[in-house]
Amino acid sequence: MTDIRNENVIDALRKVNDPDLHKDLVTLNMIKDVKIEGSNINVTVELTTPACPLKDKIREDCIAAIKNDIPAAEKIEINMTSNVRSHKDSKKDSILPGVKNTIAVASGKGGVGKSTVAVNLAVALAKDGAKVGLIDADIYGPSIPMMLGIEDKPKIYQSAETKKMMPLENYGVKLMSIGFLVDDDNPVIWRGPMASGAVKQFMTDVDWGELDYMIFDLPPGTGDIQLTLVQTIPLTGAVIVTTPQEVSLVDARKGLKMFNRVNVPVFGIIENMSYFIAPDTGTKYDIFGNGGGEKLANELKTQFLGGIAIDPRIRQGGDSGKPIVYDLKDTEHDKMMMKIARNLAAEVSITNINKGSDDVEIILND
Ligand SMILES: Nc1ncnc2c1ncn2[C@@H]1O[C@H](COP(=O)(O)OP(=O)(O)OP(=O)(O)O)[C@@H](O)[C@H]1O
Ligand SMILES: [Mg+2]
Repeated sequence: MTDIRNENVIDALRKVNDPDLHKDLVTLNMIKDVKIEGSNINVTVELTTPACPLKDKIREDCIAAIKNDIPAAEKIEINMTSNVRSHKDSKKDSILPGVKNTIAVASGKGGVGKSTVAVNLAVALAKDGAKVGLIDADIYGPSIPMMLGIEDKPKIYQSAETKKMMPLENYGVKLMSIGFLVDDDNPVIWRGPMASGAVKQFMTDVDWGELDYMIFDLPPGTGDIQLTLVQTIPLTGAVIVTTPQEVSLVDARKGLKMFNRVNVPVFGIIENMSYFIAPDTGTKYDIFGNGGGEKLANELKTQFLGGIAIDPRIRQGGDSGKPIVYDLKDTEHDKMMMKIARNLAAEVSITNINKGSDDVEIILND
C-alpha cells in the first residue's frame, strides 16, 4: 500500500472550485489543515463566511475529489470552519478597525420594508454564526429598537483614557440607533451634517468589538441626506429593497444610481412583499405581478438576492420585536430570509476576493 501524502490531498483539492468565487480552494487559501492517519484523511476547510450558501456542496465536492484522486483513502472527514474576509479599505480601517464589512440597506422609497429587511438580515447572519452589528441611521423614523425587541438605552462607560457607548444586543446583534438620541416627544429636524455627525459618532464612539458585518438602515430616498450618509460611511456595498410595483422599482433604480455615483458596489436587490402564501392551502399568489425585482436586477446588472412574502405575521413580528427567523422558524419565510442573508454574504465574499484580498495566496506546498 502506498502512503497517502499531504500533497496528494492538496492536489486533489486544487480541483475543487468554490462555485461562487470561481477559484479553487487551495488558491483561495481555504484549506487550513490536512491530517493523514494511515488511510484516513481529515481536512479543515475555512469558508469565507459562516453564512455560506454552498457549504454542503463544497464538502461533497471535496470528498468526491479526494476519493477520485486517492482511491486508497478510506475515511474522509471534512471539517468546515469560517473566517469572514475583510473589505480592505483605509478609510474603513481607520474609522471601524474591528469591523470587516459594512453594508447599507437602502430604498428609493419609504415604507417598502427596509427596516424589516435590515433587522432580519442582521439576525439571520448572526444565526449562522457571524458577528453582526446594526446601525439604525433612519432619521425619519428610527424603528429598529422596537423591531429588535430592545427597550433600554445604551450605557456610557468612561475610563481614564476613553469614553465609549456600549451597544445594546438582542438575537446576537449589537445595535445603535438614532432613536436612542432623540426624545419621542420632541422631534428633531435633521439636516445632512447632523445626521452624518450622529452616524460618525456611532462608528467611532461605540465599543463594537470585532464584527464580521455591520449593517446600516439608511433613511429612505436618494436626497442630500442619504448622499451625505453614503459618503460618510466607509461602505463595502449596499442592498436595495423594493416592492414589486412599478413605482417602487423606478425608485429602486434611483437608489442604485446613487450608489454608482459614489462608487459603492450594489450587492443586489431584495424584493419585499413579493407574493402571498395562503395559510390554509399553501398556494402562492403574486399580488403585485411577478418578477419585477428580478427584472430590475438583470437590467441593472446586479444580483437578485431573493423575494420575501407579504404576511401579517411579519408585521406583527416587527411590532413585537420578534424577527422572522426566530418567530416563524422552519416556515417558508424563515428559509427565504436565511437564503437571502446567505446570498448577500456570498456577494460580500465575491466582492472582497475580486478586489484582491491579502488573504488569497497559495500556501501549503510542503
Ligand atoms: N413582508 C411583509 N409582510 C407584512 N408586513 C410587512 C412586510 N415587510 C414590512 N412589513 C410591515 O410594513 C411596515 C413598513 O415596513 P418597514 O418599517 O420595515 O419599512 P421601511 O421601508 O423601513 O419604512 P420607512 O420608510 O418608514 O423607514 C411595517 O409595519 C412592517 O411591519
Ligand atoms: Mg424604516
